[in-house]
Amino acid sequence: MGIIYSQTERTFTIHTKETTYQMKVDNYGFLLHLYYGKKVKGNMDYLLTYYDRGFSGNPYEAGRDRTYSMDALPQEFPSLGNGDYRGTAISVENPDGTLSCDLRYKEHRIKNGKYGLPGLPAVYAKAEESQTLEIDMEDRVTGLQVTLLYGVLPELDIITRSAKITYAGPGKIYLEKVQSVCLDFLYGNYDLITFYGRHAMERNFQRVPVAHGRQMVGSRRGASSHQYNPMMILADEKTTEDAGCGYALSFVYSGNFQGEAQKDQFNQTRVLMGLNEEMFRYPLETGETFYAPEVILSFTDQGLNRLSQNLHSCIRHHVCRGKYKEVVRPVLINSWEAAYFDFTGEMIYELAKQAKEVNIEMLVMDDGWFGKREDDNSGLGDWYVNEEKLGGTLGDLIRRINDLGIKFGIWIEPEMISEDSNLYRAHPDWALVIPGRDPVRARNQLVLDFSRKEVVDYIYGQICNVLDQGNIEYVKWDMNRSLLDIYSVSSKDQGRIMYDYVLGLYDFLERLVRRYPNMLIEGCSGGGGRFDAGMLYYTPQIWCSDNTDAVDRLKIQYGTSFGYPVSAVGSHVSAVPNHQTGRKVSMKTRGITAMAGTFGYELDLGALSSEDKEEIKKQISDYHKFAPLIQNGKYFRLSNPYQDEICAWEFASEDGSEALLNVVMQQIHGNMTVNYVKMYGLKAGAMYQEENSGKVYSGAALMEAGLPLPIEFGEYQGYQMHFVIYE
Ligand code: GLA
Repeated sequence: MGIIYSQTERTFTIHTKETTYQMKVDNYGFLLHLYYGKKVKGNMDYLLTYYDRGFSGNPYEAGRDRTYSMDALPQEFPSLGNGDYRGTAISVENPDGTLSCDLRYKEHRIKNGKYGLPGLPAVYAKAEESQTLEIDMEDRVTGLQVTLLYGVLPELDIITRSAKITYAGPGKIYLEKVQSVCLDFLYGNYDLITFYGRHAMERNFQRVPVAHGRQMVGSRRGASSHQYNPMMILADEKTTEDAGCGYALSFVYSGNFQGEAQKDQFNQTRVLMGLNEEMFRYPLETGETFYAPEVILSFTDQGLNRLSQNLHSCIRHHVCRGKYKEVVRPVLINSWEAAYFDFTGEMIYELAKQAKEVNIEMLVMDDGWFGKREDDNSGLGDWYVNEEKLGGTLGDLIRRINDLGIKFGIWIEPEMISEDSNLYRAHPDWALVIPGRDPVRARNQLVLDFSRKEVVDYIYGQICNVLDQGNIEYVKWDMNRSLLDIYSVSSKDQGRIMYDYVLGLYDFLERLVRRYPNMLIEGCSGGGGRFDAGMLYYTPQIWCSDNTDAVDRLKIQYGTSFGYPVSAVGSHVSAVPNHQTGRKVSMKTRGITAMAGTFGYELDLGALSSEDKEEIKKQISDYHKFAPLIQNGKYFRLSNPYQDEICAWEFASEDGSEALLNVVMQQIHGNMTVNYVKMYGLKAGAMYQEENSGKVYSGAALMEAGLPLPIEFGEYQGYQMHFVIYE
């Protein structure tokens, strides 16, 4: 299979279908990185060069050899303290207060199957489709043991990396920094592609050259954040959507992270990704173990579309779990933009009735159904049904809605607490607050200390109590503020709390998915503030953004598509004028945009005209027709919505027998120029018929010469073109 160890050369070579990754244990026991890229054969250590470099020290054992320096050599897991002055993967504070760590190779194991990480989400795969390489490194002075973990899914061109860190010496050490991956490149000019944003405008695309100095993205907000996504790409400066080399890094973790790229003094590039080193100081006493969350890696020489597709298949089939992972999700209507907090049980029932008329399949009752929750100033933590507001029990409401033939879903926000709640009055110390300091409030709420098991246990019990009251088939798990004021009574070491908080969150979610295996959970954090591969292990879809404006969504979903499959992208048709932007976009364009996701509605159906309702019916029937292609097909970006007048994307079936082209015109001008797109994923030798026009095209022509896109008069017009193989 994919992992080969050469005893004579002391090299580890990992082969996937189209890529090779190689490293070597050198004479001093350092683990040097040799190569990651397109598939090659042979020993790559000829790539290493040795020169006497001023102010780059040499290991003691090198004696008078001044050409051997950790400051210049490419490494797998560089540490602070052995002569590498670049960004490191690990730094520690030893029991004697020193800050030095020197890791050398000890032994290794190659196993079938993919490793798992206790308490953390991770890529999973069958024993026959994956392998694991474990390399033990140790600091012989302190007894710190680091096992580097490599998971390989050869068919998918995916390699994962993580590290298990155990302290075997006396006393206590502190992990000051732990990165899950380091990738060193000996030469070349690269671009760093990252995804920045803000609430309601997440995952904007940014591509900048890697320069001297640290270029960094990250989060210290306790969640992966709206501001920077924990997925980034290192691409050759010439790489485009359909050609060129690129490396993707996706962190399978939902809390604080950092990702960085740096060109060093010798023009070598280093990329690191892992936990944020700020607000992190993790204690390990004798015999204790720490697991670094995993990073998914992929390489391709075939452009960014292909790189995204590698991540899409890995996340869809080997990260997401549960009944819904590979099936088309029910078309839902969410009550949030329909009614906000202002509803009664009867209004929810009415919405379900209207939903039924247009063939919507599920109703989701959003925020406002519990405790004292008439606005966002109170009630969080009091997870008992407000039967007065609902005009009866939750069970009755669900039964009535189910009787219409409509499924029922509900909103929760388990990690939060309002000061105006019975829970806070009973347990003020359960909130993250630093004694003697006033906490920073956000949305007028505080965060529960999920690093404490008794807090997680209690809220879990409360939530299960609600979920057991009826046939609840969907839950929207929300999280509406960033963490701050980190103080937990559970430990003297506050530097561990933000990591332990995420473990508490994962523990809750794991229990939930096991207890309710048939329930669909949608993640959410003020929209897409925790949109990461870690959450997707528990929630196969995540509300992509609180911004439902179809035109803004083009960019948000474009950015999201680089790292995440369409099946993970929560997307709804909402009312016009849009509640976030005031923009008016046609129902058709709103529908096409929402179809590049899980598809649903979020508006007051009662306020719609009968034409709109008819159009919704048509949309839903179109969606059912296209959903298998949308969800299972390959996704291609055909334009750059930041630069182009149009935004276009395509779904092509794996076998190339059909494709759905989606276009939204972002701009319209007098005497409008024509935009062309080249399609992908078709069979060059086959003929295709476009369903609406009946026109027939050759696959090769559509891919090589392209297609002139029809100009539609009016603002933000959108259309779909369905190409089916034509014998
Ligand atoms: C967040 C979510 C919204 C909605 C509200 C409810 O902002 O992203 O979709 O659920 O909370 O308070």
